[in-house]
Amino acid sequence: MDKIIVEGGRPLAGNVKISGAKNAALPMLISSLLADGTSTFTNVPDLMDIKSTSLLLSHLGAQVETCEDTVRISAGDLTQFEAPYDLVRKMRASVLVLGPLVARLGRARVSLPGGCAIGARPINLHLKGLAALGASIDLKHGYVEATAGRLKGADIYFDVVTVTGTENLMMAAALAEGTTVLRNAAREPEIEALADNLIKMGADIEGAGTSIITINGVAALNPVAATIMPDRIEAGTFMMAAVLTRGEVTLLNCEPDHVGALIDKLRLAGAEIEIGDKSIQVKGHQNITSVDIKTQPYPGFPTDMQAQFMVLMSVADSTSTISETIFENRFIHVSELKRMGADIQVSGNIAIVKGVPHLSAAQVMATDLRASASLILAGLVAQGKTEVNRVYHLDRGYQSIEKKYSALNATIQRVK
Ligand code: EPU
Repeated sequence: MDKIIVEGGRPLAGNVKISGAKNAALPMLISSLLADGTSTFTNVPDLMDIKSTSLLLSHLGAQVETCEDTVRISAGDLTQFEAPYDLVRKMRASVLVLGPLVARLGRARVSLPGGCAIGARPINLHLKGLAALGASIDLKHGYVEATAGRLKGADIYFDVVTVTGTENLMMAAALAEGTTVLRNAAREPEIEALADNLIKMGADIEGAGTSIITINGVAALNPVAATIMPDRIEAGTFMMAAVLTRGEVTLLNCEPDHVGALIDKLRLAGAEIEIGDKSIQVKGHQNITSVDIKTQPYPGFPTDMQAQFMVLMSVADSTSTISETIFENRFIHVSELKRMGADIQVSGNIAIVKGVPHLSAAQVMATDLRASASLILAGLVAQGKTEVNRVYHLDRGYQSIEKKYSALNATIQRVK
């Protein structure tokens, strides 16, 4: 299994081009199931989760062709309606096929994803919504079995803001008969990206990006040609790396509006940030000020940046409080950061982080994508050589991470 070895202490410098967004690409690629014909997506990141999605779509009978950052999907003849355990286990976002399959084929069988390292992550709200649209839902042998005639529009209220839940139901409702209103919908930029993609396919959707989305169902959708937006979490991770190493990095091909909450916190921590059109210049200073954060649905501070921010606070000048409100177990990086000398106390969903002058290198590993990214960040400032194991978590969500850091002057390598 690959590992990454990183030697701390070099300020990062230079430009980094941000790749397409994993969490926008997954639902957009899956939306191709809704139309008969060939959809084309560009700026698709080269990630394990994208490969898993291609495998899943192929398993369902779609033809998937990848050439560099372009993916073509022909979903004319779907031969299967099942997302098997082995594929869903590798990637929870596989549940996103549920809505499109029921809408298009009237039938879906999808393995229940179960818990994962960061929390229980139920899909009850996806199922409640599909039932409201008229699907019969059965849970049997670890699978969700959903069947329906043509789905019927409904008024659906989400108890909890859910990103993939909103996406699943938006895709299902696009082909339903009549009007669906999603209330307390997620407002993440990825939701807007999916809505724009569906609108290009011929869907009638209003309000994406707000908490109330209205979808007037249509009888059929067309294939689409779409470009994947830049990854805001990858962008945020490189911004953090610049501040943490007291470096100066310019992010290219990014969307500054999508990282507003992070920019605000990094400025409070003492960073200098200049915003361009599709670029952000970030400069770190010797003193890092301790700042509190609380994770929230967009436009609040993203849970997907919490682990990385904790590393920054680990070397800040005083004490900060980090509250995780989205997932119940998203502090798995804490024990590894403590092994690197961080001073962190966890009580429930709150971590109290006391800044220390230095972290020290260690052999570490994490069982989650963003936690693994935080360990690389810690390695970039720690004294000595840090060895980050289980790199496959990183490969799920960061394209060529070691090459991008290396081009920014870091001493980092992947060891097979
Ligand atoms: N929830 C329920 N019932 C549901 C659905 C969600 O109780 O039916 C709860 C979850 O347990 C959680 C909260 O609602 O406590 C929010 O979960 P959400 O459904 O929004 O998460 P998700 O859609 O499964 C997406 C991203 C995650 C990101 C979260 C939160 C994708 C493919 N994944 O997950 O990304 O952390 O939203 O922003 O879009 C990552 O990229 O590393 C990652 C984990």
